[in-house]
Amino acid sequence: MKEQSSEYRDNQQPYDDKHLSVMKEEFLEYFEEKEIKVFFDGTLGAGGHAEALLQAHPEIEMYIGCDQDPQAIELASKRLAPFKEKLKIVRGNFENLDQFLNDLGVEEVDGFFLT
Ligand SMILES: C[S@@+](CC[C@H](N)C(=O)[O-])C[C@H]1O[C@@H](n2cnc3c(N)ncnc32)[C@H](O)[C@@H]1O
Repeated sequence: MKEQSSEYRDNQQPYDDKHLSVMKEEFLEYFEEKEIKVFFDGTLGAGGHAEALLQAHPEIEMYIGCDQDPQAIELASKRLAPFKEKLKIVRGNFENLDQFLNDLGVEEVDGFFLT
């Protein structure tokens, strides 16, 4: 599994607590009427989308947050601490989705997100 450090991120900027999640309202709207038990977020970042979805969907049982950047994972882990019982963080490339789900014993997800 090839890992990339923060220097390879698209915007070349380090994460901070002010990192904004793009199109958060549209993201929430898309999943508004859906019941979600298991969700895969392939670009967890600082966890802004994850936090919003977990707050809007208390029925979520497992939120799998994947990112290849350890700095992003550190920030997301802090931000999502209130949801830690539901959160499964995996570090790596989302192209290894099958392997991650297999390791977690998950056969299918109700939604996924990559941005
Ligand atoms: C724009 S940020 C994500 C923002 C995040 N959804 C939020 O709410 O703040 C993009 C993230 O995707 C991660 N990323 C990009 N390509 C990836 C890949 N192939 N596999 C895993 N993570 C990836 C980057 O490390 C970065 O943390």
